[in-house]
Amino acid sequence: MGMKSSGGWGQLATWGKPVKLTSAPLRFHNSSKKDTYDMMQLKLLNLIMAILFRGHTELGDITPHNIKQLKLLNQVVFPVTYNDKFYKDVLEVGELAKLAYFNDIVVGAVCCRIDTSDNQRRLYIMTLGCLAPYRRLHIGTVMLKHVLKICEEDANFDNVFLHVQVNNDGAIKFYEKFGFKIVEEKKNYYKRIEPADAYVLQKTFRESGEQKAVAKN
Ligand SMILES: CC(C)(COP(=O)(O)OP(=O)(O)OC[C@H]1O[C@@H](n2cnc3c(N)ncnc32)[C@H](O)[C@@H]1OP(=O)(O)O)[C@@H](O)C(=O)NCCC(=O)NCCS
Repeated sequence: MGMKSSGGWGQLATWGKPVKLTSAPLRFHNSSKKDTYDMMQLKLLNLIMAILFRGHTELGDITPHNIKQLKLLNQVVFPVTYNDKFYKDVLEVGELAKLAYFNDIVVGAVCCRIDTSDNQRRLYIMTLGCLAPYRRLHIGTVMLKHVLKICEEDANFDNVFLHVQVNNDGAIKFYEKFGFKIVEEKKNYYKRIEPADAYVLQKTFRESGEQKAVAKN
């Protein structure tokens, strides 16, 4: 694992076609046969490299030059649409938001923010996702370890938490592997997707006064 410097280079790997980050308009769905063939070659090459060398995952900054890649990635990975404010805020959070590059191609991203509700200081993982063909290559692990390292270095967070759809078994298993636990179920948390219910997954670093009192009783 390594860290990329910021910049607008690279491509976003998708099932359809690689989206080059040039001034050309971003085309996403209408891929030609050649584009699909190129993409298949690229995917095959990446997978062979992953098998032979376990791939090469790096995290890079999110900047105004590559924010469109984050938008495209989130559109593909998540069933929820994020608004302009989300992307404006992401540009302000520094190390709390990163793109993940696998062999120099954008295949994942993580975006967090600090939450100070309920007399707690918490890190909230808004999104952490990886394109489907690149899953189980430990790219999610690289992103989550980055988040956990921030928590560890800061040493002032009560916990780190996120929401997942209740049927997202893969993500639940992934987070449980890193010590997250389901602490709450929120009915009708999501507005436009089914199932609408969410679990709150949380990794606790220190119990707040209120939580300690509940635990004692
Ligand atoms: C959840 C997600 C980020 C995991 O990313 P990933 O790169 O595939 O995960 P990793 O390869 O780092 O997995 C690490 C470990 O987590 C567990 N894990 C990950 N995905 C799993 C799955 N689908 N089923 C069971 N266990 C899984 C495994 O123990 C895995 O280790 P192993 O492959 O050596 O057995 C990815 O599935 C994803 O992008 N999902 C869609 C977006 C999403 O739901 N995000 C969560 C809400 S923010």
